[in-house]
Order: sequence, then C-alpha cells, then structure tokens
Amino acid sequence: MIDIRKLLKKGSDFLGCQFPIIGGAMTWVSEKNLVSAISNAGGLGVIACGAMEPSHLENEIISTQKLTKNPIGVNLILMHPKIEKLIEICIENKIHFIVFAGGIPKKKYINQFKAKRIKTIAFASTLFIANRLKNFGIDALIIEGSEAGGHIGPVSTNVLAQEILPFISEIPIFVAGGIGRGESFLNYLRQGAAGCQIGTRFVCASESVAHDNFKNIFIKSEARSAQVSIQLDDRLPVIPVRAIKNKASVLFLEKQKEVLKNLEQGNVSLKEAQLTIEKFWSGSLKKAVIDGDIENGSLMAGQSVSMVKKIQPVKEIIEEIIQQASHEYNK
Ligand SMILES: Cc1cc2nc3c(=O)[nH]c(=O)nc-3n(C[C@H](O)[C@H](O)[C@H](O)COP(=O)(O)O)c2cc1C
Repeated sequence: MIDIRKLLKKGSDFLGCQFPIIGGAMTWVSEKNLVSAISNAGGLGVIACGAMEPSHLENEIISTQKLTKNPIGVNLILMHPKIEKLIEICIENKIHFIVFAGGIPKKKYINQFKAKRIKTIAFASTLFIANRLKNFGIDALIIEGSEAGGHIGPVSTNVLAQEILPFISEIPIFVAGGIGRGESFLNYLRQGAAGCQIGTRFVCASESVAHDNFKNIFIKSEARSAQVSIQLDDRLPVIPVRAIKNKASVLFLEKQKEVLKNLEQGNVSLKEAQLTIEKFWSGSLKKAVIDGDIENGSLMAGQSVSMVKKIQPVKEIIEEIIQQASHEYNK
C-alpha cells in the first residue's frame, strides 16, 4: 500500500480524494445515494444529469451535498436543450467537478467553470481530440474504450491508452472501459494514467438504487452478454450502446427489419423511418433500472459485468480494487 501511493498521488491530488477512482456517471443509477457513497469511500462520485430538468438537478445536488462533505461531480450531456441553465445551477451550487459528455464542450463553457475554480473533465476519443481539449483549457480527460457500458466509441481501452497516454502528460488522464479489478487499474497507472473511471462495477453496490432485477441480471451475466447494439442499414443510423442482450435487443433488430421493409416499399419517409429507430430506446433505461423491467428495458452494462459477483457496499468495492492493485504492485 505504501509504494502504490506514489502512483495514486497525481490523480488523488487532482480529484481531492483518497483514491483516483471516478464513479462513472450512470443515468438513473448515479443519484445521491451512490454518488455520496463513492465520495465518502474515497473516490469521486458523479451525479448523472442525463435528461433531468434544471430544478431536478439542483435538488439532486443539494441532497447529495447533505450526504457527503467530500468533492462531487456532475455529468452534463452537451446536447441537453437546457445546458446553459444546467451550467448555472452547477456553478451556483459550487460543484467541484464537471464531466462533459456527448461531445466536445465549447471553450466558453470551460471558461465559465474556470472562472469559478470548478474543474472540467471531458472525454477524448482520439489523440487529436485530446490535444484540442487540452488547448481549450480542459483540466483533465477521460479516455473510454469500447468495453464500457452505455454509449461507446469504436476503439478498445487498451488501444486508446497506447494512443493517448504516452503523448499527453500536462493534464491528468483517467482511463475507463472494462476495468473490473485492481490489476487492470494498476496497468493503466503504470502506463501514465492518473486514475480510472468505473461504472459497471458500481451498479450492484448496496447503496445503488437500481432495481433488484437489474442488479441480479448483472450478477448473472458474462462479459459476452454485454453486446453492442447492431445497425442493419446505413440509412437508419443506430447509436452504438453496450448493453446486456435481452428481449428488447432482439425486438430492436426486428423493428429495424420492419422499418427497412416499409422504407423500401415507400410506406414511410426516410425521416419517419429514422425517427422510429431513434425513439425505440427512449425511456428504456429507466424502465430497466427503476421499474426492474429487464425484458423490455435497456440493460446498459460494460463487459466487466462478468466481474460483478455480488451486492457489496461501495467502500468494499473500492478497497478491493485498491488491494488488488497494491498486491500486484508489490509482487
Ligand atoms: C447503466 C449505465 C449508464 C451510463 N450513463 C452514462 C451517462 O449518463 N453519462 C456518461 O457520460 N456515461 C454514462 N455511462 C458510462 C459510465 O459513466 C462509465 O464511463 C462506464 O461505465 C465505464 O466503463 P465500465 O462500464 O466498463 O466501468 C453509463 C454506463 C452505464 C453502465
């Protein structure tokens, strides 16, 4: 434990917490209970704003702050129609970290937070984007590989780490996607990462409000069950999402076939067809996470779902990861 602290220091100092582990924001899952538990256990908890209304976000921030005195973050989706208002709310409520998701943040947004000493973090999917964000003044980066749960890019964590980590040392980089154990976390630290971001492993935390059905399917699933959504035709774009295969994912393929047939027969316009595909998953994460409908909802999960074995307190999950990393380090 003594030695590994050197490797953990850069990320921990940046995050202002004991361990450089960011609890990846997960829509519907990362609310006050899980977020405060992660921050109280020495990581950085991040509220998933998702599609929340500004007033809802504000309530969530205030409730989380009542449960922890430690730093927390907010994950903002850039295409949210009320993004500017959400930014105001985060500033007013003195959030410590902002994680921008769903695109490249405007320089203006970064500067707004900088002026209030709030640190900004964004996802970089290539070295080019990483450098651009660095030049925009971003404080830290997350590189997330395709093993991750939820919306993903096409490149694996392993390759992204090699492409980006050796070339950027001025700002901390957190690695995400497929990290289920401490040995893997240590590998990325050794390659120059400041820390990691983990989502899937926290879903089954005792503090997570996810429905028992959602947690149980995680505990039962293997890595191969967490599959990327399939697109049947270029005319009907499908956003790549990694989720556990279920009835809904099979129906999604059927829906695409049906819509394609209608499109080819001239029964629907291209726009209508695209909209039907786009709408298919709307509301489906909530259906699974909150209502427990694991057949018809979306079971977003990363491949590291195979390393989710039981329901455990957040503190135990974090300690396990740190112990595994320390043990490997001292071998
Ligand atoms: C159920 C679920 C929901 C997610 N929702 C979001 C989100 O709202 N915003 C975001 O930036 N990332 C989201 N993610 C990605 C996580 O924040 C994190 O980066 C990812 O889970 C890390 O990879 P891992 O799943 O292999 O640990 C989600 C992931 C999951 C599993």
